[in-house]
Amino acid sequence: MPADISPVFDSEKVTVIYVLGGPGAGKGTQCSKLVGAYSFCHLSAGDLLREEQNREGSQYGELIRTCIREGTIVPMEVTVKLLENAMSAEIEARTGDGWSNGRGRFLIDGFPRKMDQALKFDEEVCLASMVIFFTTTEEVMLHRLLERGKTSGREDDNVESIRKRFRTYEEQTMPVIRHYSSHGKVVEIDSTASVEQVYREASAAVSKFLRVPLA
Ligand code: C5P
Ligand code: MG
Repeated sequence: MPADISPVFDSEKVTVIYVLGGPGAGKGTQCSKLVGAYSFCHLSAGDLLREEQNREGSQYGELIRTCIREGTIVPMEVTVKLLENAMSAEIEARTGDGWSNGRGRFLIDGFPRKMDQALKFDEEVCLASMVIFFTTTEEVMLHRLLERGKTSGREDDNVESIRKRFRTYEEQTMPVIRHYSSHGKVVEIDSTASVEQVYREASAAVSKFLRVPLA
């Protein structure tokens, strides 16, 4: 018998925007700027995984650590559940602009990185409305990640892990971008320029989508 699954959150009330792009493309930086301007909740899948990795008693700690170091994708059940829990908590706790009566708006950064995550989240958690896709060259991304690595303390901001992350991105994440492109949901933004310049384009895209004035 086919399972009759409906998503946990109704996409009419809960807006989900996925933010994708290669490692070092500027996803986190741009999300931090967009979050205050449009009352979003910013959830970084990578940050949630690192938090879970460090949580005492987590059964997934070792698995997550290995995947992150090797630049591979953590089994989707783990990441999808972390996101769903974080969304529920935010919707429960938050009030104000765009957040009343079970409403909410989320920027989900670094997710979905693989087709199985995309299909599961859209079907079982919340159907995403839009994908912001930041693009630049591997050379620029490598440079940014190595700069960040000087202070990030991240175990994957080193040349060896970065190469693996680039490969995973090409092999697993690009099909996700193509999938959403074919549904007309992708806004592609060249993120080679300065943070401010890229933000101008990103905020224009978000304003247009949400039908609110530029912020
Ligand atoms: O997005 P970020 O660069 O912080 O992700 C770090 C790592 O976390 C990825 O290289 C991958 O190992 C893991 N990850 C994942 N699935 C996601 C996001 C991140 O497995 N959706
Ligand atoms: Mg990030």
